[in-house]
Amino acid sequence: MTKRILIFGSSRNDGNTSTIVNCLKQSLDFDLINLNGLNISHFDYKHQNRDDDFLPLMRKVIGYQQIIFATPVYWYTMSGILKVFFDRLTDCLTIEKDLGRKLRNKQMSVLSTSNDDSQNEEFFLPFILSAEYLGMDYIGNIHTWLENEKIPNVVKNRITYFAKLHSTN
Ligand SMILES: Cc1cc2nc3c(=O)[nH]c(=O)nc-3n(C[C@H](O)[C@H](O)[C@H](O)COP(=O)(O)O)c2cc1C
Repeated sequence: MTKRILIFGSSRNDGNTSTIVNCLKQSLDFDLINLNGLNISHFDYKHQNRDDDFLPLMRKVIGYQQIIFATPVYWYTMSGILKVFFDRLTDCLTIEKDLGRKLRNKQMSVLSTSNDDSQNEEFFLPFILSAEYLGMDYIGNIHTWLENEKIPNVVKNRITYFAKLHSTN
């Protein structure tokens, strides 16, 4: 099994984030999970959703050493689909604490996609702080975009850097 998993959180399966992820795939080996195809409901304090797709997904995720999140920028932050996933990580600190413990010392990284270079570092703060809270090692992030439906060279260089970050860590 590859040691990394990419958790993909776009609202469209063949959009810009997907194009970037496919490019990354050419230089980095990873298994891919598309959150858009899963039944993961909003966090529920009563955990009545414990039988949806979240916990089986997490049982799979803890088998990997590196966890990469790929998300479009929607309203200055991560996609709603990915935010629901992060909210549900609370399940791993309450009803499935063993799963939460197993996230410790795993590596997290993030790839964001919008329409241009105008990204602020604060975008990555929720990921950095979540990694810290979960005892994970945050290894880095890149911001990406397309121009006329193509990946510009500056972004290709970032993708190369991002891929190397995972193979050297
Ligand atoms: C609901 C929605 C909200 C968006 N909000 C932002 C934003 O706040 N900042 C930004 O730069 N782009 C924003 N965009 C543009 C997307 O980040 C951009 O088109 C991205 O490449 C879409 O990736 P996708 O094809 O994987 O959805 C938004 C797009 C959508 C659909």
